[in-house]
Amino acid sequence: MKVGIVGWRGMVGSVLMQRMQEENDFSLGFEPVFFSTSQAGQAAPMGGGTLKNADDIAELKKLDVILTCQGGDYTKAVHPELRKQGWNGYWIDAASTLRMEKDAVIILDPINRNVIDAALQNGQKDFIGGNCTVSLMLMGLGGLFRAGLVEWMSSMTYQAASGAGAPNMRELLSQMGGLHGVVAEELKNPGSAILEIDKKVTETLRNGSLPTKEFGFPLAGNLLPWIDREVEDGQSREEWKGFSETNKILGVATPIPVDGICVRVGAMRCHSQAITIKLNKDLPIADIEQLIANDNEWVKLIPNTKADSLAGLTPAAVSGTLTVPVGRVRKMKMGPQYVQAFTCGDQLLWGAAEPLRRMLRILLE
Ligand code: HSE
Repeated sequence: MKVGIVGWRGMVGSVLMQRMQEENDFSLGFEPVFFSTSQAGQAAPMGGGTLKNADDIAELKKLDVILTCQGGDYTKAVHPELRKQGWNGYWIDAASTLRMEKDAVIILDPINRNVIDAALQNGQKDFIGGNCTVSLMLMGLGGLFRAGLVEWMSSMTYQAASGAGAPNMRELLSQMGGLHGVVAEELKNPGSAILEIDKKVTETLRNGSLPTKEFGFPLAGNLLPWIDREVEDGQSREEWKGFSETNKILGVATPIPVDGICVRVGAMRCHSQAITIKLNKDLPIADIEQLIANDNEWVKLIPNTKADSLAGLTPAAVSGTLTVPVGRVRKMKMGPQYVQAFTCGDQLLWGAAEPLRRMLRILLE
């Protein structure tokens, strides 16, 4: 099997390559062919060959599988052309472009291996990674959906800078440094007036001196209650994905309402979510916890104590790992069928790269 790898140098692509190396994916007996949009002809990262031109349709047509992290514009330009020319290989993609297409499957195999297997049986060829927030929510709470217990869900998110891109992570840190810089002297003196410090910080947040090319606004010392473009009904596109992608991943006949507000916060690469669930029946909390904890090998139930939550249910604890902790699980005051939870996950791993490499493995099985 010849597997073309496109966009392996970017942030998601680099995480993908690292994970494929850690899991020895390159020893599975396929021939990797590395592509580049800008450096064709230079040495490929492994295998001794050279980089092929990622826009060369004739070259791409020779492949059995194309695995791309190059982004939506690339998909938009190349995928239809390849299909038009009769290419019938497998397309594995991290971008959102094709996700909601009728013939595309959103891949998150620990949650929807049944949907993936049915699609393969059916001859489908486009396998697309889901939105990071949706994938992380399902990795954490898939057990409740699988048990058919969710009447509706509301997810209020705390999304990291990485979801917006690598330059945004840099900008967040530069903003943090900028804010610190304006009050560094005062901070050295424990007796300095905090309201004076706050005044300077607020002034700096408003006076346009912080770098904001990527986010458009300061994120450090702030938050941004809108992610992606406006769609309809006052929803952001990120919020729209919560409903549409969750239901497509699960492949349920009757859609389950999922809605909430998506918010950008100053975390680096872990998306967190505060979840409200209306169950369709009253279940003891211990049973709910069991269903969550036993769903897959990556979800980790965090006991609902202050110490456990602060130690294990944060971006700082989770970053760079595949663990998806779920905590703060309890019945809410609204009634016995209302459950709350908090979850957190690395958006570059389960949120982006991991489902792609696992899909390649499924094809190689
Ligand atoms: N749309 C996500 C975000 C990126 O902005 O955080 C991952 O799908």
